Amino acid sequence: MGWTLEDIAWDRFDATRVDPDILAVVKAAAMVERNAADYTRYLRAIFQDDPQFQAETDRWQIEEEQHGDALGTWAELADSGFNYQAACRRFTDGYKIPLDGDGSVRGSLTGELIARCIVETGTSSFYSALRDATTEPVLRDICHRIAGDEFRHFKLFYATMQAYLKRENIPAWKRLLVAVSRIRESEDDELAYAWFAANAPADAVYNRSSATAAYGTRAYRLYQPTHVTRATHMVLKACGLNPQGLLGTVASRIMWRYIASRARIPLAETMPQPIPRAA
Ligand SMILES: [Fe+2]
Ligand SMILES: [Fe+2]
Repeated sequence: MGWTLEDIAWDRFDATRVDPDILAVVKAAAMVERNAADYTRYLRAIFQDDPQFQAETDRWQIEEEQHGDALGTWAELADSGFNYQAACRRFTDGYKIPLDGDGSVRGSLTGELIARCIVETGTSSFYSALRDATTEPVLRDICHRIAGDEFRHFKLFYATMQAYLKRENIPAWKRLLVAVSRIRESEDDELAYAWFAANAPADAVYNRSSATAAYGTRAYRLYQPTHVTRATHMVLKACGLNPQGLLGTVASRIMWRYIASRARIPLAETMPQPIPRAA
């Protein structure tokens, strides 16, 4: 554990710099982070023959839960009406991760680790984007620390995946399919229900598409092209594809279109440009 909640300078909090849309996104993110124990149980079960990796997932869980606690504490500071623990209960009462059955839902252990790489790519770019979008100093600090953790998580799952790839020999196209399907799952219930649990009035009725839109328009709007390009390169790397050159440029543009559509922003002039070749 590289840091704890005690390392955060909470007294630097500046209420005048809290953006209400960012606050709502932070509340939803805190729910998902805090719920890491379910994934650890699942990963422990499917990697039952790998005690070393199981121990890594235990450490990973503690860090993810701390992300939730840091974001939840900040949200309570920013909104005295918000109750982090109560919102977490509302989330876990209504949402269970769809990971039943034996073996990985990704078809192979390599596939499972690719899916984890995609999640950590998503979180490291999300917290980088959030850090760069807010001027509130405590939130900037928290997001910077979390983004660093998420990048290390990516490296952990990536390194583990390399070892399994040697045994399972999953071709690149299959790895790409896992990656794309995991990216598309960001439109499933998890984030949408987290948004609902953290932000909807007590008597509200959950609706996936409106919650997905409410979350997406606020969260994906925070991304700048550099965050998207970096995330795309991480995804390609996880699939064993070279992110440099034309593939990286084309994939970044496709990803930018996807982010823009989730954010419901017009496709901007800010579309990532090819990186000029050195002369
Ligand atoms: Fe996290
Ligand atoms: Fe993570």
